[in-house]
Amino acid sequence: MTALDAQSKRTYPIKQVGVIGFGQMGRGIAQVLATGGYEVLGFDEIPNAVNSGVKDIEQRLSKAIEKGTLDNATKDVAIKRLRAVSRKDELASVDLIIEAVVEDQSVKQTLFRELDSLCKPETILATNTSSVSITKIAAATKRPEKIIGMHFMNPVPVMKLVEIICGLQTSDPTYETIHDLTVKLGKTPVTAKRDFPGFIVNRILIPMLNEAVFVLMEGIATAEDIDNAMKLGTNQPMGPLALADFVGLDTCLAIARIFHEELGDDKYRPCPLLVKYVEAGWLGKKTGRGFYNYSER
Ligand code: CAA
Ligand code: NAD
Repeated sequence: MTALDAQSKRTYPIKQVGVIGFGQMGRGIAQVLATGGYEVLGFDEIPNAVNSGVKDIEQRLSKAIEKGTLDNATKDVAIKRLRAVSRKDELASVDLIIEAVVEDQSVKQTLFRELDSLCKPETILATNTSSVSITKIAAATKRPEKIIGMHFMNPVPVMKLVEIICGLQTSDPTYETIHDLTVKLGKTPVTAKRDFPGFIVNRILIPMLNEAVFVLMEGIATAEDIDNAMKLGTNQPMGPLALADFVGLDTCLAIARIFHEELGDDKYRPCPLLVKYVEAGWLGKKTGRGFYNYSER
């Protein structure tokens, strides 16, 4: 087989995928890849994170069996496709890596530099970043044409969208491969044609979530009333404060800071109350406390 699957299709063959960062997004991405027929190698800097993620996936698939939307054999095959690795160099020969580590530009650049030196030249390196520039991440590597944004939404197994973002030097075959994979996973792709902070979804969503925190800080309404107002008044499945807790307040703040810094407009300034909550370690649902207290629920 040549490097490109077929010149006319202009896609690279993808069979084995590495997922780096097995937090809430990484485990969801691994689940849709495994149920979609791809072999997945998972890596996280926390030693047991991948194995605990695989247990989570098993539980979710068992729930689907109980509901009659999945059969046992499909679940068993999907789980067998998932494997934890303890060193990044074990990912050297995968066809694609999807990175889902913490939303921090320098962490992502350091990781991509290392992956670039470890992986075979054909490997596409995709990032699930919510806001970091794809072009900046690509600049840390010697394969900028194979770096791309593949932005899944949370919760990954449920949400239909994948936002695809091309950096300045992303090649057409890289884009087409990721577009093709998105469709094969049963997701709907949209393309951010320009690599600007927040792309499409977060450029619109995060200012709304941040504004909801201002409404709370200014004492205009309680968290419950803010969320009910937006749920019942604008038909959103979750209110903005519950959604911020669900995304992770550290992630929301990191995105807001990138907007403020890179777009240079004070309308993007992160709400001081959001900053305080993150300083307190109240990161939302994942730590049990955010705008709501999940340990009491
Ligand atoms: N992981 C996997 N599946 C999950 C899940 C999770 N964390 N949470 C819920 N689900 C599944 C449930 O298993 C259930 O599946 P079935 O229908 O097959 O049984 C389904 O979702 C519905 O769940 P529930 O009945 O428990 O709850 P719900 O009806 O209240 O829906 C929700 C939960 C899907 C999360 C819904 O509230 C929702 O759509 N919320 C908005 C989510 C959203 O806006 N996401 C985008 C965030 S922004 C982003 O992701 C980008 C970024 O960079 C920050
Ligand atoms: P999370 O905090 O749940 O998980 C991050 C994981 O990455 C953790 O398990 C951590 O141990 C691991 N990690 C951190 N640095 C690492 C490194 N250098 N090498 C290996 N593993 C490392 O975060 P998350 O919510 O899953 O977000 C991950 C990425 O996905 C971020 O870039 C975020 O912006 C993006 N994203 C998040 C959401 C969301 O709603 N939370 C939605 C779309 C995209």
